[in-house]
Amino acid sequence: MIDEMTTVLEPSPLPDFVETKYVKDITNRTLSYIKAGFPVHFRGVSGTGKTTMAMHIASKIGRPVVMIHGDEEFTTSDLVGGEHGYRFKRVVDRFVSRVLKVEEDMIKRWVDNRLTVACKYGFTLIYDEFTRSRPEANNILLSILQEKMMDLPVGRGGEEPYLKVDPEFTAIFTSNPEEYAGVHRSQDALRDRMITLDVDHFDYETEVAITQAKSKLSKPHAEIIVNIVRGLRESGKCEFAPTIRGCIMIAKTLKVQNIIPSRSSRSDGFLKMCQDILASETSRVGSKTNQTKVKEVVKDLVEKELGKTKSVEEIDLSACRTRHRQGRNPRKKPL
Ligand SMILES: Nc1ncnc2c1ncn2[C@@H]1O[C@H](COP(=O)(O)OP(=O)(O)O)[C@@H](O)[C@H]1O
Ligand SMILES: [Mg+2]
Repeated sequence: MIDEMTTVLEPSPLPDFVETKYVKDITNRTLSYIKAGFPVHFRGVSGTGKTTMAMHIASKIGRPVVMIHGDEEFTTSDLVGGEHGYRFKRVVDRFVSRVLKVEEDMIKRWVDNRLTVACKYGFTLIYDEFTRSRPEANNILLSILQEKMMDLPVGRGGEEPYLKVDPEFTAIFTSNPEEYAGVHRSQDALRDRMITLDVDHFDYETEVAITQAKSKLSKPHAEIIVNIVRGLRESGKCEFAPTIRGCIMIAKTLKVQNIIPSRSSRSDGFLKMCQDILASETSRVGSKTNQTKVKEVVKDLVEKELGKTKSVEEIDLSACRTRHRQGRNPRKKPL
C-alpha cells in the first residue's frame, strides 16, 4: 500500500504454540482488558513467555502488528519518525563514517514511523522490553494512551502537529524487572495508563508441553528435563534462575544427538549436556565458583531423576507393552 507499511507484520498464529490452562487463563484475562480499552503490560523475568504471549494476543486481536524493541539509544523521533532530533554519530574516519551512516540509515528506516503507522491505522503495537528505552523517549506514549492523541515532532512538512489515534489501536508492552542491567525504571505516569500482569515461570504442565512441542521429544523425556530444570530453579543456588529456554536447549540437543536420558553408559553425555547448558544459562558473568556449584546441583538432580525411573528405555518399553495390551486406541494413558 504505502512505503511505511513495510514494517507491518501479519497477525498469524505462532507455530508450535502451546495452549494449556495456564496459557489460556492469561490470554483470556488479557483479551478482556484489551476489549475494555486498556493497554496491557507483561512484566517478569527473562524466559517467562512475555514476548510470545504478546504475539499470541496480537494474533488473537487480528489487526496488523507493529513491533518495536526497547533500546537505550532511542529518541522520541526514532519512535515517531521524522528527521527532527535525529542524531548522527560523530566519527573522524571518513570510511567508517560512511559505513556508520549507512548503518544508521538502515536502523532509521527500520524504526522510522512505526509508532505513527500503528496509531494512524489502528494496528496493534507490541513494544517489547520498553523499559530498555530511556523514559524521556517513551514520553510520547503518555498522550497516545491517555488522550488518544499523538504529538508529532515539528518538521514533518505540511502535516498537523498531532495525529488522532485510531480507535482500533492497541498496545501491548513487555518488560524485565527493574533490577536487570540496562533497564530503566518505567515512569509511574506510563505505568498508571496500562494494566500490568506480573508473569512468573510457567507451571509444570506448560513447561513440559512447551519442551515437548519445541523438540518433539516424548513426554517422559520432556518430564525428566523439566524436573531437572525446576529442581535447579528451586535450589536457589543460581545467580539467575534457569528458564524454559534451558529446557528447550537440552531437549533440542538431545533430539539431534539421539541420546536418551538413561542410566546406561551414554547417560554421561546427558549429564554433561545438562551441566553445560544450565551452568551457562544461570551464571551470566561466568563466575567459576558459581558454575561449579550449579554443576554439582545438576549432577545430583540428574542422578535423582534417572535413579527414580527404572530407566527411560524401560518406561518406553512398558508404555509400548501397555499400548499393545490396550489395543490401538487406548483410553487410559500408559504413564
Ligand atoms: N505458549 C508457548 N508455546 C510454545 N512456546 C512458548 C510459549 N511461551 C513461550 N514459549 C517459548 O519459550 C521461550 C521463552 O519465551 P519468550 O516469549 O521469549 O520469553 P520472555 O519474552 O519472557 O523472555 C521461547 O523459546 C518461546 O518460543
Ligand atoms: Mg522477550
